[in-house]
Amino acid sequence: MPDVSPEVVAHRGASALRPEHTLAAYELALRQGADGLECDVRLTRDDHLVCVHDRTIDRTSGGTGAVGAMTLEQLRRHDFGAWHGGEPAEVLTLDVLLGLAADHGKRLFVETKHPVRGGGRVERRLAEALAGHRVDAVMMSFSVLAVHRFKRLRPDVPTVLLYDRLWPRTKPRFADYAGPGVHLLRRHPGLGAGAYVWTVDDPADVALCRERGVRFLATNNPEETRRRLADNLTPDQP
Ligand code: G3P
Ligand code: CA
Repeated sequence: MPDVSPEVVAHRGASALRPEHTLAAYELALRQGADGLECDVRLTRDDHLVCVHDRTIDRTSGGTGAVGAMTLEQLRRHDFGAWHGGEPAEVLTLDVLLGLAADHGKRLFVETKHPVRGGGRVERRLAEALAGHRVDAVMMSFSVLAVHRFKRLRPDVPTVLLYDRLWPRTKPRFADYAGPGVHLLRRHPGLGAGAYVWTVDDPADVALCRERGVRFLATNNPEETRRRLADNLTPDQP
């Protein structure tokens, strides 16, 4: 069994308990002792990076419409907390989250979503945003092109190439870490060594990640996952 436990990364914040991508979700993750934070980013119509997973705000807010069709000001009129039973919450900008991660000395994993209109603009804006903060950032994407593009802009920032099906080839040089989904690890445990694995909430998956030398483990429930890792619990132990 590897000596080093995976780093616990709060997936969209402590999103099992708070509305995803809200300040409340990230603040709870920090209180729960997460080692790192994960977010998805999209560009607004007026070129701001905001932390929203879906193309539209329909699922995670009281409003409707595509993120890319709205200005930041328009997005701010919608509540991103109530859908999950949380307190009212404004859309979270990447800038605010970068500040939070920097203040707490936590690693921030930023995933750029594709395909989007404007192609590489999101990676360019991300590179610019990172320049304004002293933060330990990691860039991630399912898009090979996006990771390649970003690496050319910021060779010093580590990258993760995410994937949800098996690659027909080896990891490209511009990706520092492989990012398989945990469903792939269950069938091919050898993929875990040194990887970023998502999204790991099930006790059996947490144990598998530890056993297989996963480097970064993204979970919606950082407190519970940390406890299981620290106590080295087997899946059948509560
Ligand atoms: O952390 C990677 C993971 O978030 C990728 O999937 O759909 O949750 O963004 P998704
Ligand atoms: Ca993500």
